[in-house]
Amino acid sequence: MCGIVGFNGERDARKIVLDGLQKLEYRGYDSAGISCVNNNNEVKTYKDKGRVDHLRELVDESYMTNIAIGHTRWATHGEPSKRNSHPHTSQSGRFTIVHNGVIENYKKLKYEFLADYIFNSDTDTEVIANLLDYFAKQMDFKDALLKTLTLLEGSFALLILDKHNLNDIYFAKNKTPMIIGYSSTGVVLGSDIIPLVGNCDKYTALKDGTFGVASKHRIEFFDYNGKEMNYTFKDVDVSADSIDKGGYDHYMMKEIHESPSVIRRILSTYFDDHEIMISKSLIDKIRKCDKINLVACGTSMHAGYMGKYFFEKFCHIPSEVFCASELVYSKPLIRDHPIFIFLSQSGETADSIACMKKFGIKYPTVSITNVSTSTMANLADWNLDICAGPEIAVASTKAYIAQVCVCAILAKAVLGEKSFIKHHLDRVANEIDVVINENDENIKAVAAQIVKAETCFFIGRGLDYWAALEASLKLKEISYIHTEAFPSGELKHGSISLISKAVPVIGLVTQEGSSNIVRSNLVECQARGSKNFVISTRDIAEPTDDIIVPNVKHYFNPLVSITACQLLAYYVAIMKGNDVDKPRNLAKSVTVE
Ligand code: M6R
Repeated sequence: MCGIVGFNGERDARKIVLDGLQKLEYRGYDSAGISCVNNNNEVKTYKDKGRVDHLRELVDESYMTNIAIGHTRWATHGEPSKRNSHPHTSQSGRFTIVHNGVIENYKKLKYEFLADYIFNSDTDTEVIANLLDYFAKQMDFKDALLKTLTLLEGSFALLILDKHNLNDIYFAKNKTPMIIGYSSTGVVLGSDIIPLVGNCDKYTALKDGTFGVASKHRIEFFDYNGKEMNYTFKDVDVSADSIDKGGYDHYMMKEIHESPSVIRRILSTYFDDHEIMISKSLIDKIRKCDKINLVACGTSMHAGYMGKYFFEKFCHIPSEVFCASELVYSKPLIRDHPIFIFLSQSGETADSIACMKKFGIKYPTVSITNVSTSTMANLADWNLDICAGPEIAVASTKAYIAQVCVCAILAKAVLGEKSFIKHHLDRVANEIDVVINENDENIKAVAAQIVKAETCFFIGRGLDYWAALEASLKLKEISYIHTEAFPSGELKHGSISLISKAVPVIGLVTQEGSSNIVRSNLVECQARGSKNFVISTRDIAEPTDDIIVPNVKHYFNPLVSITACQLLAYYVAIMKGNDVDKPRNLAKSVTVE
Protein backbone atom coordinates (compact mmCIF):
# COMPACT_ATOMS: atom_id res chain seq x y z
CA MET A 1 0.00 0.00 0.00
CA CYS A 2 1.28 3.42 -0.93
CA GLY A 3 3.78 3.90 -3.71
CA ILE A 4 7.05 5.77 -3.62
CA VAL A 5 9.32 6.98 -6.41
CA GLY A 6 12.62 8.85 -6.41
CA PHE A 7 14.95 10.05 -9.14
CA ASN A 8 18.49 11.40 -9.03
CA GLY A 9 20.11 12.09 -12.38
CA GLU A 10 20.46 14.29 -15.40
CA ARG A 11 16.84 14.34 -16.48
CA ASP A 12 13.64 16.06 -15.40
CA ALA A 13 13.17 14.45 -11.98
CA ARG A 14 9.75 16.05 -11.49
CA LYS A 15 8.39 14.37 -14.61
CA ILE A 16 9.93 10.97 -13.88
CA VAL A 17 8.57 10.99 -10.33
CA LEU A 18 5.09 12.27 -11.24
CA ASP A 19 4.76 9.79 -14.12
CA GLY A 20 6.05 7.03 -11.85
CA LEU A 21 3.58 7.92 -9.11
CA GLN A 22 0.74 7.81 -11.60
CA LYS A 23 1.77 4.30 -12.58
CA LEU A 24 1.91 3.31 -8.91
CA GLU A 25 -1.54 4.69 -8.11
CA TYR A 26 -2.85 1.14 -8.05
CA ARG A 27 -1.07 0.90 -4.67
CA GLY A 28 -3.11 3.73 -3.16
CA TYR A 29 -4.58 6.93 -4.43
CA ASP A 30 -6.16 9.00 -1.70
CA SER A 31 -3.42 11.64 -1.62
CA ALA A 32 -0.15 12.38 -3.35
CA GLY A 33 2.92 14.52 -2.92
CA ILE A 34 6.36 15.31 -4.28
CA SER A 35 9.48 17.12 -3.06
CA CYS A 36 11.85 18.56 -5.66
CA VAL A 37 15.32 20.01 -5.19
CA ASN A 38 15.57 23.31 -7.10
CA ASN A 39 18.58 25.20 -8.56
CA ASN A 40 19.10 27.09 -5.32
CA ASN A 41 19.46 23.86 -3.40
CA GLU A 42 16.07 24.22 -1.73
CA VAL A 43 13.52 21.47 -1.23
CA LYS A 44 10.10 22.41 -2.62
CA THR A 45 7.21 20.23 -1.44
CA TYR A 46 3.77 19.98 -3.04
CA LYS A 47 1.10 17.68 -1.67
CA ASP A 48 -2.64 17.32 -1.22
CA LYS A 49 -5.54 14.98 -0.81
CA GLY A 50 -6.52 13.52 -4.20
CA ARG A 51 -4.79 11.86 -7.07
CA VAL A 52 -1.60 12.46 -9.01
CA ASP A 53 -3.51 14.37 -11.70
CA HIS A 54 -4.48 16.90 -9.05
CA LEU A 55 -0.90 17.00 -7.74
CA ARG A 56 0.34 17.84 -11.25
CA GLU A 57 -1.78 21.00 -11.14
CA LEU A 58 -0.09 22.11 -7.90
CA VAL A 59 3.51 21.57 -8.92
CA ASP A 60 5.54 24.59 -10.03
CA GLU A 61 7.23 23.66 -13.30
CA SER A 62 9.20 26.84 -13.76
CA TYR A 63 12.52 25.49 -12.52
CA MET A 64 14.79 22.57 -13.37
CA THR A 65 14.98 19.72 -10.92
CA ASN A 66 17.24 16.68 -11.13
CA ILE A 67 16.37 15.21 -7.74
CA ALA A 68 12.86 14.45 -6.50
CA ILE A 69 11.00 12.02 -4.26
CA GLY A 70 7.25 11.36 -4.31
CA HIS A 71 4.46 9.37 -2.72
CA THR A 72 0.95 8.18 -3.52
CA ARG A 73 -0.97 7.22 -0.38
CA TRP A 74 -3.42 4.66 0.96
CA ALA A 75 -4.17 6.10 4.37
CA THR A 76 -3.23 4.06 7.44
CA HIS A 77 -2.46 6.62 10.16
CA GLY A 78 -4.70 9.64 9.79
CA GLU A 79 -7.41 10.50 7.33
CA PRO A 80 -6.61 11.35 3.71
CA SER A 81 -5.77 15.08 3.92
CA LYS A 82 -3.08 17.52 2.90
CA ARG A 83 -1.47 17.47 6.37
CA ASN A 84 -1.23 13.67 6.39
CA SER A 85 0.08 13.44 2.82
CA HIS A 86 3.72 12.68 2.21
CA PRO A 87 6.45 13.92 1.92
CA HIS A 88 6.86 14.80 5.60
CA THR A 89 9.53 17.16 6.83
CA SER A 90 11.30 17.05 10.18
CA GLN A 91 10.68 19.90 12.60
CA SER A 92 14.00 21.60 11.81
CA GLY A 93 13.29 21.31 8.09
CA ARG A 94 16.48 19.29 7.54
CA PHE A 95 14.94 15.96 6.49
CA THR A 96 12.17 15.32 4.01
CA ILE A 97 10.92 11.76 3.66
CA VAL A 98 8.42 9.51 1.91
CA HIS A 99 7.50 6.21 3.48
CA ASN A 100 5.61 3.10 2.45
CA GLY A 101 4.79 0.80 5.35
CA VAL A 102 3.70 0.98 8.96
CA ILE A 103 5.82 1.81 12.01
CA GLU A 104 4.25 -0.24 14.76
CA ASN A 105 6.07 1.39 17.69
CA TYR A 106 5.72 5.01 16.52
CA LYS A 107 3.83 6.11 19.63
CA LYS A 108 6.45 4.66 21.94
CA LEU A 109 9.27 6.30 19.95
CA LYS A 110 7.46 9.62 20.02
CA TYR A 111 7.05 9.41 23.77
CA GLU A 112 10.59 8.22 24.43
CA PHE A 113 12.58 10.56 22.18
CA LEU A 114 10.42 13.29 20.75
CA ALA A 115 8.52 14.84 23.64
CA ASP A 116 9.76 18.32 22.65
CA TYR A 117 8.77 18.00 19.02
CA ILE A 118 5.63 19.51 17.53
CA PHE A 119 3.92 17.24 15.02
CA ASN A 120 1.99 18.50 12.02
CA SER A 121 0.32 15.25 11.01
CA ASP A 122 -1.22 12.09 12.46
CA THR A 123 1.20 9.83 10.62
CA ASP A 124 3.79 7.36 11.85
CA THR A 125 6.06 8.70 9.10
CA GLU A 126 6.59 12.10 10.71
CA VAL A 127 8.06 10.25 13.70
CA ILE A 128 10.79 8.84 11.42
CA ALA A 129 11.61 12.32 10.07
CA ASN A 130 11.87 13.75 13.59
CA LEU A 131 13.83 10.81 14.96
CA LEU A 132 16.41 11.40 12.23
CA ASP A 133 16.44 15.04 13.18
CA TYR A 134 16.85 14.22 16.85
CA PHE A 135 19.77 11.85 16.37
CA ALA A 136 21.44 13.94 13.66
CA LYS A 137 21.91 16.65 16.29
CA GLN A 138 24.04 14.23 18.29
CA MET A 139 25.98 12.26 15.67
CA ASP A 140 26.85 12.23 11.98
CA PHE A 141 24.11 11.49 9.48
CA LYS A 142 24.99 7.89 8.71
CA ASP A 143 25.01 7.00 12.43
CA ALA A 144 21.77 8.91 12.97
CA LEU A 145 20.13 7.00 10.14
CA LEU A 146 21.40 3.67 11.46
CA LYS A 147 20.24 4.51 14.96
CA THR A 148 16.79 5.46 13.64
CA LEU A 149 16.45 2.36 11.49
CA THR A 150 17.38 0.00 14.29
CA LEU A 151 14.71 1.56 16.52
CA LEU A 152 11.90 1.21 13.99
CA GLU A 153 9.58 -1.79 14.38
CA GLY A 154 7.35 -2.58 11.44
CA SER A 155 7.70 -2.13 7.72
CA PHE A 156 9.24 0.64 5.73
CA ALA A 157 10.53 1.61 2.34
CA LEU A 158 11.97 5.08 2.85
CA LEU A 159 13.39 7.78 0.63
CA ILE A 160 15.10 10.65 2.41
CA LEU A 161 16.39 14.07 1.36
CA ASP A 162 18.90 15.71 3.69
CA LYS A 163 19.32 19.49 3.35
CA HIS A 164 22.98 19.13 4.31
CA ASN A 165 23.61 17.10 1.17
CA LEU A 166 21.08 17.59 -1.59
CA ASN A 167 23.18 15.73 -4.15
CA ASP A 168 21.95 12.36 -2.94
CA ILE A 169 18.80 10.42 -2.04
CA TYR A 170 19.09 8.12 0.98
CA PHE A 171 16.99 4.98 1.09
CA ALA A 172 16.15 2.16 3.48
CA LYS A 173 14.01 -0.96 3.28
CA ASN A 174 12.46 -3.46 5.65
CA LYS A 175 9.48 -5.76 4.86
CA THR A 176 8.10 -3.39 2.19
CA PRO A 177 9.30 -3.65 -1.38
CA MET A 178 11.76 -1.30 -3.01
CA ILE A 179 13.37 -1.60 -6.40
CA ILE A 180 16.35 0.46 -7.54
CA GLY A 181 17.61 0.80 -11.09
CA TYR A 182 19.89 2.91 -13.21
CA SER A 183 20.75 4.02 -16.71
CA SER A 184 23.44 6.37 -17.98
CA THR A 185 21.14 9.28 -17.11
CA GLY A 186 20.46 8.52 -13.47
CA VAL A 187 19.02 6.36 -10.72
CA VAL A 188 15.33 5.56 -10.12
CA LEU A 189 13.88 4.11 -6.93
CA GLY A 190 10.33 2.76 -6.77
CA SER A 191 7.90 0.52 -4.93
CA ASP A 192 7.93 -1.77 -7.93
CA ILE A 193 9.61 -2.03 -11.29
CA ILE A 194 6.95 -0.10 -13.21
CA PRO A 195 8.34 3.44 -12.69
CA LEU A 196 11.73 2.16 -13.80
CA VAL A 197 10.49 0.92 -17.17
CA GLY A 198 11.76 3.23 -19.92
CA ASN A 199 14.04 5.03 -17.43
CA CYS A 200 16.47 2.28 -16.40
CA ASP A 201 18.42 -0.49 -18.11
CA LYS A 202 19.34 -2.45 -14.97
CA TYR A 203 17.60 -3.01 -11.65
CA THR A 204 17.73 -4.90 -8.42
CA ALA A 205 15.24 -5.58 -5.61
CA LEU A 206 16.44 -4.45 -2.20
CA LYS A 207 16.73 -6.97 0.62
CA ASP A 208 15.32 -6.33 4.07
CA GLY A 209 17.77 -4.60 6.34
CA THR A 210 19.41 -2.53 3.62
CA PHE A 211 20.04 1.19 3.56
CA GLY A 212 22.02 3.19 1.09
CA VAL A 213 22.69 6.26 -0.91
CA ALA A 214 21.75 6.97 -4.52
CA SER A 215 23.96 9.57 -6.20
CA LYS A 216 23.54 10.48 -9.87
CA HIS A 217 25.90 7.78 -11.12
CA ARG A 218 26.59 5.62 -8.09
CA ILE A 219 24.58 3.51 -5.68
CA GLU A 220 25.96 2.30 -2.36
CA PHE A 221 24.30 -0.34 -0.16
CA PHE A 222 24.92 -1.02 3.53
CA ASP A 223 23.56 -3.41 6.11
CA TYR A 224 22.45 -2.24 9.55
CA ASN A 225 25.98 -2.73 10.88
CA GLY A 226 27.11 -0.14 8.38
CA LYS A 227 28.95 -2.79 6.31
CA GLU A 228 28.89 -2.30 2.54
CA MET A 229 26.73 -4.86 0.68
CA ASN A 230 27.08 -6.18 -2.86
CA TYR A 231 24.07 -6.25 -5.13
CA THR A 232 23.80 -7.85 -8.55
CA PHE A 233 21.71 -5.99 -11.12
CA LYS A 234 19.53 -7.58 -13.83
CA ASP A 235 18.25 -6.26 -17.14
CA VAL A 236 14.89 -4.50 -16.95
CA ASP A 237 12.81 -7.08 -18.82
CA VAL A 238 9.35 -5.50 -18.58
CA SER A 239 8.21 -3.86 -21.81
CA ALA A 240 6.60 -0.43 -21.87
CA ASP A 241 3.60 -1.96 -23.74
CA SER A 242 2.85 -4.27 -20.86
CA ILE A 243 2.25 -1.37 -18.50
CA ASP A 244 0.12 0.92 -20.64
CA LYS A 245 -3.57 0.50 -21.41
CA GLY A 246 -2.84 -0.72 -24.91
CA GLY A 247 -5.80 1.11 -26.45
CA TYR A 248 -8.37 -0.06 -23.88
CA ASP A 249 -10.28 2.42 -21.74
CA HIS A 250 -9.24 0.66 -18.56
CA TYR A 251 -6.51 -1.66 -17.37
CA MET A 252 -9.15 -4.09 -16.13
CA MET A 253 -10.53 -4.58 -19.64
CA LYS A 254 -7.04 -4.94 -21.08
CA GLU A 255 -6.16 -7.50 -18.43
CA ILE A 256 -9.32 -9.55 -19.01
CA HIS A 257 -8.40 -9.63 -22.70
CA GLU A 258 -4.89 -10.80 -21.79
CA SER A 259 -6.06 -13.95 -19.97
CA PRO A 260 -5.78 -16.23 -23.05
CA SER A 261 -2.25 -15.08 -23.81
CA VAL A 262 -1.32 -15.50 -20.13
CA ILE A 263 -2.50 -19.13 -20.25
CA ARG A 264 -0.47 -19.71 -23.40
CA ARG A 265 2.59 -18.17 -21.72
CA ILE A 266 2.09 -20.48 -18.74
CA LEU A 267 1.95 -23.47 -21.08
CA SER A 268 5.15 -22.50 -22.83
CA THR A 269 6.85 -21.88 -19.47
CA TYR A 270 5.78 -25.08 -17.73
CA PHE A 271 5.76 -27.59 -20.58
CA ASP A 272 8.42 -29.11 -22.73
CA ASP A 273 6.25 -30.82 -25.28
CA HIS A 274 3.85 -32.64 -22.90
CA GLU A 275 6.26 -32.94 -20.01
CA ILE A 276 5.73 -30.64 -17.04
CA MET A 277 8.83 -28.68 -16.07
CA ILE A 278 8.64 -28.15 -12.33
CA SER A 279 11.50 -28.72 -9.90
CA LYS A 280 11.77 -32.40 -8.99
CA SER A 281 12.61 -31.53 -5.39
CA LEU A 282 9.28 -29.70 -5.07
CA ILE A 283 7.33 -32.53 -6.67
CA ASP A 284 9.01 -35.05 -4.31
CA LYS A 285 8.26 -32.86 -1.31
CA ILE A 286 4.57 -32.63 -2.20
CA ARG A 287 4.36 -36.37 -2.89
CA LYS A 288 5.69 -37.05 0.59
CA CYS A 289 3.52 -34.52 2.40
CA ASP A 290 0.41 -35.53 4.32
CA LYS A 291 -1.46 -32.27 3.89
CA ILE A 292 -1.36 -29.24 1.62
CA ASN A 293 -2.18 -25.93 3.27
CA LEU A 294 -3.07 -23.21 0.79
CA VAL A 295 -2.75 -19.71 2.24
CA ALA A 296 -3.85 -16.46 0.60
CA CYS A 297 -6.16 -13.43 0.72
CA GLY A 298 -9.00 -12.17 -1.47
CA THR A 299 -8.97 -13.29 -5.06
CA SER A 300 -5.84 -15.36 -4.51
CA MET A 301 -7.64 -17.23 -1.75
CA HIS A 302 -10.46 -17.98 -4.19
CA ALA A 303 -7.87 -19.36 -6.62
CA GLY A 304 -6.65 -21.45 -3.67
CA TYR A 305 -10.06 -23.15 -3.42
CA MET A 306 -9.70 -24.27 -7.01
CA GLY A 307 -6.19 -25.46 -6.14
CA LYS A 308 -7.57 -27.51 -3.25
CA TYR A 309 -9.90 -29.22 -5.71
CA PHE A 310 -7.00 -30.14 -8.03
CA PHE A 311 -4.69 -31.37 -5.26
CA GLU A 312 -7.42 -33.54 -3.78
CA LYS A 313 -8.80 -34.79 -7.11
CA PHE A 314 -5.51 -35.42 -8.93
CA CYS A 315 -3.13 -36.19 -6.06
CA HIS A 316 -5.48 -37.44 -3.31
CA ILE A 317 -3.69 -35.27 -0.77
CA PRO A 318 -5.95 -33.63 1.83
CA SER A 319 -5.84 -29.90 1.25
CA GLU A 320 -7.18 -26.95 3.16
CA VAL A 321 -7.47 -23.28 2.25
CA PHE A 322 -6.63 -20.70 4.91
CA CYS A 323 -7.41 -17.01 4.93
CA ALA A 324 -3.99 -15.58 5.76
CA SER A 325 -5.25 -12.88 8.12
CA GLU A 326 -6.97 -15.54 10.22
CA LEU A 327 -4.23 -18.15 10.05
CA VAL A 328 -1.57 -15.80 11.31
CA TYR A 329 -3.31 -15.48 14.67
CA SER A 330 -4.44 -19.09 15.01
CA LYS A 331 -2.87 -22.38 15.96
CA PRO A 332 -4.04 -24.91 13.36
CA LEU A 333 -3.58 -28.60 13.94
CA ILE A 334 -0.59 -29.43 11.78
CA ARG A 335 0.16 -32.95 10.68
CA ASP A 336 3.66 -34.43 10.64
CA HIS A 337 4.60 -33.53 7.08
CA PRO A 338 2.63 -30.57 5.80
CA ILE A 339 3.53 -28.23 2.97
CA PHE A 340 2.37 -24.62 2.78
CA ILE A 341 1.50 -23.13 -0.59
CA PHE A 342 1.07 -19.36 -0.66
CA LEU A 343 -0.83 -17.74 -3.51
CA SER A 344 -0.31 -14.05 -4.12
CA GLN A 345 -0.37 -11.97 -7.28
CA SER A 346 1.88 -9.30 -5.81
CA GLY A 347 3.93 -11.48 -3.50
CA GLU A 348 3.79 -8.58 -1.06
CA THR A 349 0.56 -9.15 0.88
CA ALA A 350 1.38 -8.54 4.54
CA ASP A 351 -0.95 -11.17 6.02
CA SER A 352 0.39 -13.87 3.72
CA ILE A 353 3.99 -12.86 4.40
CA ALA A 354 3.32 -13.01 8.14
CA CYS A 355 2.03 -16.59 7.74
CA MET A 356 4.97 -17.52 5.57
CA LYS A 357 7.37 -16.29 8.23
CA LYS A 358 5.45 -18.06 10.97
CA PHE A 359 5.15 -21.47 9.30
CA GLY A 360 8.19 -21.28 7.02
CA ILE A 361 10.54 -21.62 9.99
CA LYS A 362 9.40 -25.23 10.47
CA TYR A 363 7.73 -26.34 7.27
CA PRO A 364 8.42 -26.27 3.53
CA THR A 365 6.88 -23.33 1.66
CA VAL A 366 5.97 -22.70 -1.96
CA SER A 367 4.89 -19.37 -3.36
CA ILE A 368 2.78 -18.98 -6.48
CA THR A 369 3.25 -15.34 -7.46
CA ASN A 370 3.31 -12.94 -10.34
CA VAL A 371 6.46 -11.11 -9.17
CA SER A 372 9.56 -13.24 -8.98
CA THR A 373 11.48 -10.49 -7.14
CA SER A 374 8.77 -10.15 -4.47
CA THR A 375 9.20 -10.75 -0.76
CA MET A 376 7.20 -13.97 -0.86
CA ALA A 377 9.07 -15.35 -3.85
CA ASN A 378 12.31 -14.65 -2.00
CA LEU A 379 11.17 -16.14 1.28
CA ALA A 380 9.68 -19.34 -0.14
CA ASP A 381 11.64 -22.57 -0.61
CA TRP A 382 10.20 -22.77 -4.13
CA ASN A 383 8.52 -20.09 -6.24
CA LEU A 384 6.25 -20.78 -9.21
CA ASP A 385 5.74 -17.81 -11.52
CA ILE A 386 2.19 -17.28 -12.80
CA CYS A 387 3.53 -15.46 -15.87
CA ALA A 388 0.61 -12.99 -15.94
CA GLY A 389 2.66 -9.85 -16.66
CA PRO A 390 1.92 -6.63 -14.75
CA GLU A 391 -1.62 -6.53 -13.38
CA ILE A 392 -2.46 -2.93 -12.66
CA ALA A 393 -6.25 -2.76 -12.18
CA VAL A 394 -7.05 -3.19 -8.50
CA ALA A 395 -9.57 -5.90 -9.38
CA SER A 396 -7.58 -9.02 -10.12
CA THR A 397 -8.65 -10.87 -13.28
CA LYS A 398 -5.94 -12.52 -15.37
CA ALA A 399 -3.90 -13.29 -12.24
CA TYR A 400 -6.78 -15.34 -10.78
CA ILE A 401 -6.97 -17.42 -13.95
CA ALA A 402 -3.20 -17.81 -14.02
CA GLN A 403 -3.03 -18.92 -10.37
CA VAL A 404 -5.69 -21.58 -10.98
CA CYS A 405 -3.82 -22.85 -14.06
CA VAL A 406 -0.50 -23.09 -12.19
CA CYS A 407 -2.18 -24.98 -9.32
CA ALA A 408 -3.67 -27.45 -11.80
CA ILE A 409 -0.34 -27.95 -13.57
CA LEU A 410 1.45 -28.47 -10.25
CA ALA A 411 -1.17 -31.01 -9.14
CA LYS A 412 -0.82 -32.90 -12.41
CA ALA A 413 2.98 -32.86 -12.06
CA VAL A 414 2.61 -34.38 -8.59
CA LEU A 415 0.28 -37.03 -9.99
CA GLY A 416 2.99 -37.78 -12.51
CA GLU A 417 0.85 -39.47 -15.13
CA LYS A 418 0.90 -38.44 -18.73
CA SER A 419 -2.04 -36.12 -19.00
CA PHE A 420 -3.96 -34.00 -21.43
CA ILE A 421 -3.85 -30.95 -19.23
CA LYS A 422 -1.84 -28.94 -21.75
CA HIS A 423 -4.45 -29.61 -24.37
CA HIS A 424 -7.27 -28.78 -21.93
CA LEU A 425 -5.70 -25.48 -20.91
CA ASP A 426 -4.97 -24.56 -24.48
CA ARG A 427 -8.67 -25.01 -25.12
CA VAL A 428 -9.52 -22.85 -22.09
CA ALA A 429 -7.42 -20.05 -23.62
CA ASN A 430 -9.28 -20.35 -26.93
CA GLU A 431 -12.72 -20.43 -25.28
CA ILE A 432 -11.99 -17.43 -23.07
CA ASP A 433 -11.29 -15.59 -26.31
CA VAL A 434 -14.72 -16.72 -27.50
CA VAL A 435 -16.41 -15.36 -24.35
CA ILE A 436 -14.65 -12.04 -24.78
CA ASN A 437 -15.52 -11.76 -28.45
CA GLU A 438 -19.01 -13.27 -28.59
CA ASN A 439 -20.72 -12.84 -25.22
CA ASP A 440 -20.33 -9.11 -24.83
CA GLU A 441 -23.91 -8.13 -25.72
CA ASN A 442 -25.52 -10.72 -23.40
CA ILE A 443 -23.24 -9.71 -20.59
CA LYS A 444 -24.07 -6.03 -21.07
CA ALA A 445 -27.79 -6.92 -21.08
CA VAL A 446 -27.47 -8.62 -17.68
CA ALA A 447 -25.36 -5.72 -16.41
CA ALA A 448 -28.12 -3.27 -17.37
CA GLN A 449 -30.64 -5.27 -15.34
CA ILE A 450 -28.60 -5.49 -12.15
CA VAL A 451 -27.02 -2.04 -12.18
CA LYS A 452 -29.72 -0.54 -9.94
CA ALA A 453 -29.71 -3.39 -7.41
CA GLU A 454 -28.47 -2.71 -3.90
CA THR A 455 -27.86 -6.39 -3.18
CA CYS A 456 -27.06 -9.25 -5.52
CA PHE A 457 -26.42 -12.93 -4.80
CA PHE A 458 -24.27 -15.43 -6.68
CA ILE A 459 -25.02 -19.11 -6.16
CA GLY A 460 -23.45 -22.36 -7.30
CA ARG A 461 -22.32 -25.75 -6.04
CA GLY A 462 -18.85 -27.28 -5.84
CA LEU A 463 -16.50 -25.63 -8.30
CA ASP A 464 -19.27 -23.21 -9.27
CA TYR A 465 -19.50 -22.09 -5.66
CA TRP A 466 -15.76 -21.36 -5.57
CA ALA A 467 -16.20 -19.36 -8.77
CA ALA A 468 -19.25 -17.63 -7.27
CA LEU A 469 -17.08 -16.37 -4.41
CA GLU A 470 -14.77 -14.73 -6.89
CA ALA A 471 -17.60 -13.42 -9.09
CA SER A 472 -19.19 -11.85 -6.02
CA LEU A 473 -15.95 -10.19 -4.90
CA LYS A 474 -15.36 -8.83 -8.40
CA LEU A 475 -18.80 -7.26 -8.63
CA LYS A 476 -18.79 -5.76 -5.13
CA GLU A 477 -15.34 -4.26 -5.24
CA ILE A 478 -15.86 -2.22 -8.38
CA SER A 479 -19.65 -1.68 -8.52
CA TYR A 480 -20.17 -1.06 -4.76
CA ILE A 481 -23.27 -3.26 -4.93
CA HIS A 482 -23.53 -5.43 -1.84
CA THR A 483 -22.97 -8.97 -3.13
CA GLU A 484 -22.71 -12.34 -1.48
CA ALA A 485 -21.95 -15.82 -2.74
CA PHE A 486 -23.66 -18.91 -1.38
CA PRO A 487 -23.50 -22.63 -1.94
CA SER A 488 -26.93 -22.80 -3.55
CA GLY A 489 -28.18 -25.41 -1.08
CA GLU A 490 -27.31 -23.20 1.86
CA LEU A 491 -29.79 -20.44 0.99
CA LYS A 492 -32.69 -22.29 2.59
CA HIS A 493 -30.82 -22.34 5.90
CA GLY A 494 -31.33 -18.66 6.52
CA SER A 495 -30.27 -16.33 3.76
CA ILE A 496 -33.29 -16.94 1.54
CA SER A 497 -35.14 -14.61 3.92
CA LEU A 498 -33.29 -11.77 2.19
CA ILE A 499 -34.69 -12.66 -1.22
CA SER A 500 -37.13 -10.14 -2.65
CA LYS A 501 -37.90 -8.52 -5.98
CA ALA A 502 -35.01 -6.16 -5.36
CA VAL A 503 -32.38 -8.90 -5.08
CA PRO A 504 -31.11 -10.40 -8.34
CA VAL A 505 -29.71 -13.91 -8.04
CA ILE A 506 -27.06 -15.08 -10.48
CA GLY A 507 -26.66 -18.85 -10.78
CA LEU A 508 -23.41 -20.34 -12.06
CA VAL A 509 -24.20 -23.59 -13.81
CA THR A 510 -21.15 -25.22 -15.41
CA GLN A 511 -21.07 -28.66 -13.78
CA GLU A 512 -23.31 -31.35 -15.15
CA GLY A 513 -23.62 -33.21 -11.85
CA SER A 514 -25.06 -30.24 -9.98
CA SER A 515 -26.77 -28.23 -12.72
CA ASN A 516 -30.32 -29.45 -12.02
CA ILE A 517 -30.13 -28.86 -8.32
CA VAL A 518 -28.71 -25.33 -8.75
CA ARG A 519 -31.52 -24.61 -11.20
CA SER A 520 -34.06 -25.86 -8.60
CA ASN A 521 -32.51 -23.56 -6.01
CA LEU A 522 -32.85 -20.68 -8.46
CA VAL A 523 -36.53 -21.51 -8.94
CA GLU A 524 -36.99 -21.37 -5.16
CA CYS A 525 -35.60 -17.83 -5.20
CA GLN A 526 -37.82 -16.90 -8.12
CA ALA A 527 -40.85 -18.14 -6.19
CA ARG A 528 -39.93 -15.53 -3.57
CA GLY A 529 -39.72 -12.72 -6.09
CA SER A 530 -36.08 -12.61 -7.18
CA LYS A 531 -35.07 -11.90 -10.75
CA ASN A 532 -32.74 -14.73 -11.70
CA PHE A 533 -29.92 -14.87 -14.20
CA VAL A 534 -28.11 -17.98 -15.33
CA ILE A 535 -24.55 -18.22 -16.59
CA SER A 536 -24.14 -21.72 -17.98
CA THR A 537 -21.93 -23.77 -20.25
CA ARG A 538 -23.14 -24.73 -23.69
CA ASP A 539 -23.32 -28.49 -22.99
CA ILE A 540 -25.85 -28.06 -20.18
CA ALA A 541 -27.45 -24.76 -21.16
CA GLU A 542 -31.17 -24.14 -21.44
CA PRO A 543 -32.36 -21.83 -24.20
CA THR A 544 -33.50 -19.18 -21.72
CA ASP A 545 -30.12 -18.93 -19.97
CA ASP A 546 -28.78 -15.40 -20.00
CA ILE A 547 -25.10 -15.96 -20.71
CA ILE A 548 -24.01 -19.22 -22.33
CA VAL A 549 -20.27 -19.82 -22.48
CA PRO A 550 -18.35 -22.56 -24.26
CA ASN A 551 -17.58 -25.66 -22.24
CA VAL A 552 -14.11 -27.09 -21.76
CA LYS A 553 -12.87 -29.93 -19.54
CA HIS A 554 -15.46 -29.79 -16.75
CA TYR A 555 -13.12 -28.76 -13.96
CA PHE A 556 -11.84 -25.83 -16.02
CA ASN A 557 -15.32 -24.56 -16.92
CA PRO A 558 -15.21 -22.04 -14.04
CA LEU A 559 -12.25 -20.33 -15.74
CA VAL A 560 -14.48 -19.64 -18.72
CA SER A 561 -17.54 -18.63 -16.71
CA ILE A 562 -15.48 -16.37 -14.42
CA THR A 563 -14.39 -14.41 -17.47
CA ALA A 564 -18.07 -13.62 -18.14
CA CYS A 565 -18.44 -12.61 -14.47
CA GLN A 566 -15.38 -10.35 -14.65
CA LEU A 567 -16.85 -8.64 -17.71
CA LEU A 568 -20.22 -8.38 -15.97
CA ALA A 569 -18.60 -6.60 -12.99
CA TYR A 570 -16.74 -4.31 -15.40
CA TYR A 571 -19.87 -3.27 -17.29
CA VAL A 572 -21.93 -2.70 -14.13
CA ALA A 573 -19.16 -0.47 -12.75
CA ILE A 574 -18.97 1.45 -16.03
CA MET A 575 -22.76 1.91 -16.09
CA LYS A 576 -22.56 3.31 -12.56
CA GLY A 577 -19.81 5.71 -13.61
CA ASN A 578 -17.33 4.24 -11.14
CA ASP A 579 -13.57 4.38 -11.41
CA VAL A 580 -13.11 0.78 -12.51
CA ASP A 581 -9.34 0.55 -12.13
CA LYS A 582 -9.18 2.37 -8.82
CA PRO A 583 -12.27 1.52 -6.79
CA ARG A 584 -12.87 3.48 -3.62
CA ASN A 585 -11.07 2.59 -0.37
CA LEU A 586 -8.93 -0.10 -2.00
CA ALA A 587 -5.34 -0.62 -3.04
CA LYS A 588 -3.85 -3.30 -5.22
CA SER A 589 -1.18 -4.44 -2.88
CA VAL A 590 -2.22 -4.82 0.76
CA THR A 591 1.09 -4.44 2.54
CA VAL A 592 -0.31 -3.75 6.01
CA GLU A 593 -1.91 -6.36 8.28
O1 M6R B 1 -1.38 -9.69 -4.25
P1 M6R B 1 -2.31 -10.71 -3.64
O2 M6R B 1 -2.82 -11.68 -4.61
O3 M6R B 1 -1.71 -11.38 -2.43
O4 M6R B 1 -3.53 -9.86 -3.10
C1 M6R B 1 -4.52 -10.45 -2.32
C2 M6R B 1 -5.79 -9.65 -2.38
O5 M6R B 1 -5.59 -8.38 -1.82
C3 M6R B 1 -6.27 -9.48 -3.81
O6 M6R B 1 -6.43 -10.72 -4.42
C4 M6R B 1 -7.60 -8.73 -3.87
O7 M6R B 1 -8.60 -9.45 -3.24
C5 M6R B 1 -7.95 -8.45 -5.33
N1 M6R B 1 -7.29 -7.27 -5.76
C6 M6R B 1 -9.38 -8.35 -5.57
O8 M6R B 1 -9.64 -8.21 -6.93
